[in-house]
Amino acid sequence: MTTIDSLSEVAPTARAADIRELPIPPYRGTTLPEIDYDAHPAYGRMLQKPTLAERLQALKVFVRTFAFVTIRRIVDYENMPLLSKEAGFSGLNASTALRYITMYTRIRASRILGSLTGARRPAIPANPTLLNQIKSDGIVCLTLTPDELDQIRTATKPAFDKLDERRVHLPPEKRKFDDNVYWCTRSADQNAFAIVDGIFKRYGIAEAASAYLGRPVGVKHVNAQINDQDLAFWRRVFPDTQLADPWASYLHVDATYGMLKCAIYVHDIGPDGGPFCYIRGSQNAKVGWFEGMVRRTNDFSGFSGRKPEARKKFMALPAFLRKKADFGGDLPDDSPEVPRLREGHFSATSNYGNCILFDGNGIHRGGMVNKGERRCLFIVLAEI
Ligand SMILES: [Fe+2]
Repeated sequence: MTTIDSLSEVAPTARAADIRELPIPPYRGTTLPEIDYDAHPAYGRMLQKPTLAERLQALKVFVRTFAFVTIRRIVDYENMPLLSKEAGFSGLNASTALRYITMYTRIRASRILGSLTGARRPAIPANPTLLNQIKSDGIVCLTLTPDELDQIRTATKPAFDKLDERRVHLPPEKRKFDDNVYWCTRSADQNAFAIVDGIFKRYGIAEAASAYLGRPVGVKHVNAQINDQDLAFWRRVFPDTQLADPWASYLHVDATYGMLKCAIYVHDIGPDGGPFCYIRGSQNAKVGWFEGMVRRTNDFSGFSGRKPEARKKFMALPAFLRKKADFGGDLPDDSPEVPRLREGHFSATSNYGNCILFDGNGIHRGGMVNKGERRCLFIVLAEI
């Protein structure tokens, strides 16, 4: 719930966010869940032992992808300008690579200069409540006013219209995840950015994100997203087996670095409407640099998939490299880790707010719609 401050016309952080206390205790685990793949009924207990050739091939793909993930990390990919079709990026070729390298060099040079001169520094929030909450819980639920939500709906209607137009021509079974997302751009969707920028400034969301990430931060992406009951990516986890879907299905940590995200519900979302869910405090679980890279490498290489071919490749890796960012589907219900996850699992239905700020390094999931359709905006806060 929000309260309106009488300084609303003059102060940039004119509305204080009244943040709801979460109804569950924090995650008691200190690491991400461990999974014994040798003992797993869809992996070690089902698949044949990999041959030496399969092991070498899997390792080759892993090393190549690890190099790719390392380059993304070094160039600070998430804090660089958008490379999407909507932004005019036509694919990786010599000319776009040159364009990107030039742009990267220019931006990095100006950031180094800004750091040296003191011009580039994180914000100091006027009100530290939001920052403290995101630090302790990894998720904060705010409630925007009906008027603010109306403004958001109006400003993002063109984006949702384009998404509807795209989806109507694709039968549900042919839609991939990206077919349900429309990336707004500052040039084509100025209103969407202006409204979100204004609201984030008003509540001190951008400031808190900047202080949390330790760098200047702004609204980098605004994505319109539609999920419906036909998009059941978390069901039939192991499609070639009779295994029941585990409770932890689709629990994951993001493969990105150095950003915060925010989901804005443009309509009410109940328990069956695919609310965003978060394991409270799990962003503080210890994940070392190498472990984080290994998890991301397996997701990028496709080894995290759960069709038989992907599982075989994954099992051909040495045991210490068998870790995923998208791990939930592999976590059996009888794992000792599951009670801890259940205990800290918070489902952010509309009762708790309509603007959900979170750190994707924590364990989360969302968009698992049982009934109807979920329309949601996803906003990425990063250095721009
Ligand atoms: Fe995620």
